[in-house]
Amino acid sequence: MAKGICQASMFSWFVAICVFSSVVIMYTQFSVIATKFKMLDNKSWTITSVSSEKRSSFSKASFKVVSIRNTSNKTNAVGRGKLGAGKPVEKKNIPNMSMYKIRQDNLHRSLKAKASKLLSWQPNITRTREVRNNLNQINGSFVFTQINTPVGGKYYNSFHQDPVTIDDDKHRLLLEASPFAHTSIPLFNTCAVVGNGGILRRSNCGKEIDASDFVFRANLQPIKHFTRDAGRKTNLTSLNPSKVKNRYDLLSSKANITKIVSAFKEYTGYILWIPNSQAIATELGFIVARVLKENTTLQLLLADDDYFSRVGDYWKSSKMLSTGMILTSIALSLCDEVRLYGFWPFSVDLTGKLSPMHYTNDITWSSYTNAHDFPHEFQQLTELHSEGVLRLQVSACVV
Ligand SMILES: *[C@@H]1O[C@H](CO)[C@@H](O)[C@H](O)[C@H]1NC(C)=O
Ligand SMILES: *[C@@H]1O[C@H](CO)[C@@H](O)[C@H](O)[C@H]1NC(C)=O
Ligand SMILES: *[C@@H]1O[C@H](CO)[C@@H](O)[C@H](O)[C@H]1NC(C)=O
Ligand SMILES: *[C@@H]1O[C@H](CO)[C@@H](O)[C@H](O)[C@H]1NC(C)=O
Ligand SMILES: *[C@@H]1O[C@H](CO)[C@@H](O)[C@H](O)[C@H]1NC(C)=O
Ligand SMILES: *[C@@H]1O[C@H](CO)[C@@H](O)[C@H](O)[C@H]1NC(C)=O
Ligand SMILES: *[C@@H]1O[C@H](CO)[C@@H](O)[C@H](O)[C@H]1NC(C)=O
Ligand SMILES: *[C@@H]1O[C@H](CO)[C@@H](O)[C@H](O)[C@H]1NC(C)=O
Repeated sequence: MAKGICQASMFSWFVAICVFSSVVIMYTQFSVIATKFKMLDNKSWTITSVSSEKRSSFSKASFKVVSIRNTSNKTNAVGRGKLGAGKPVEKKNIPNMSMYKIRQDNLHRSLKAKASKLLSWQPNITRTREVRNNLNQINGSFVFTQINTPVGGKYYNSFHQDPVTIDDDKHRLLLEASPFAHTSIPLFNTCAVVGNGGILRRSNCGKEIDASDFVFRANLQPIKHFTRDAGRKTNLTSLNPSKVKNRYDLLSSKANITKIVSAFKEYTGYILWIPNSQAIATELGFIVARVLKENTTLQLLLADDDYFSRVGDYWKSSKMLSTGMILTSIALSLCDEVRLYGFWPFSVDLTGKLSPMHYTNDITWSSYTNAHDFPHEFQQLTELHSEGVLRLQVSACVV
């Protein structure tokens, strides 16, 4: 098994250095490399440069090798292959966070320098339409429906793995058609996308959020105790496998099903299932769909990850899009006016005050990962704000 050490920063332009004590280890771990470099007799290779592959996160280790180094003769070789096509890299292969932190800090600094720009906003209807048209030209639909998915079709996770075959029973769990078919006129006037950022705490934004026609939320946060800051209206809420694993034990017990059903009671509208886990069976989406259908009036939308991969191309994201960016993209394509709340991937706000990771305080900053390229995404959101396409609310709301 893997005895190598592997350190990588988390960016599209990163350099990963993985040293393995023998090529055979590399072969078992990174089987595809061997198609290009078959000289397995040699004892030591160093991968000197890889580029991150779409749809991957570091912990799942699916990279393209750009060059490797023969440590015996110290020459670089160039090749392509997929790392981690077989087994995921072990946990101890912790990515080098400091490079990430540097980018994060730089972004924070530059945003602080132009704080006044972030605190004011001018809409630009022309540019808003341009962005909406671009997004609406992306082929396909973000949701799996009976119409676009025949019986016998496959549902994949966000890594395009672990397909589930849609049988008759599963087909019945799909909505007949997408409720969000693109129309030339946006479906909603005003939309709020509520991120979970700690910046929402004591923001008093609840009323403003609830005044929106359609409210997007992420990952089934509790509503009741946070309405003053985060509002109570819910229309489309994302949910992902790790949430169901961590909080509801994969729905393995009756008690945990009851628990999630009670969490769903605070919600109305749609639940968007985002299958962004490699470790958890894709099947879970259908288990959740069944629980929803039998116990609630909510409707489950199964996100089509192929579609979001194309959306990721549009945003030039080298990594899998975060849920926040997915919801923002949907909102931009469906709504006339989009406001973002609770989006601020930094532990210090614009006034220098410490800000918790989530406004619900359910997790701490130590669990912040770089599975997504948050600095890149947030940079884009601030640009969209400056262009007048969406309004980022990064301070308290005036009531
Ligand atoms: C690495 O270089 C050594 C020394 O030149 C050579 O014998 C060996 O075949 C090379 N290994 C590979 C895998 O190409
Ligand atoms: C060094 O290793 C590379 C990569 O395997 C090989 O192409 C090259 O011929 C080797 N050079 C020498 C001098 O052995
Ligand atoms: C991590 O990245 C930083 C910034 O590039 C670098 O200075 C540091 O040496 C790296 N740490 C390790 C353990 O590779
Ligand atoms: C609004 O956006 C359009 C299209 O991108 C641009 O040409 C125009 O200069 C913008 N208007 C203002 C006031 O920034
Ligand atoms: C759009 O998607 C359909 C079905 O998924 C496919 O057949 C078609 O080739 C795609 N068109 C483009 C331009 O990608
Ligand atoms: C959004 O949800 C609220 C209840 O939370 C509901 O009253 C409202 O009609 C929904 N809006 C739309 C456009 O579906
Ligand atoms: C639900 O799952 C959690 C693990 O996520 C477990 O600790 C707990 O005992 C379960 N709760 C119930 C009520 O079964
Ligand atoms: C919810 O639905 C499941 C079937 O998917 C059923 O077994 C369970 O009893 C229901 N739970 C509640 C609390 O109604």
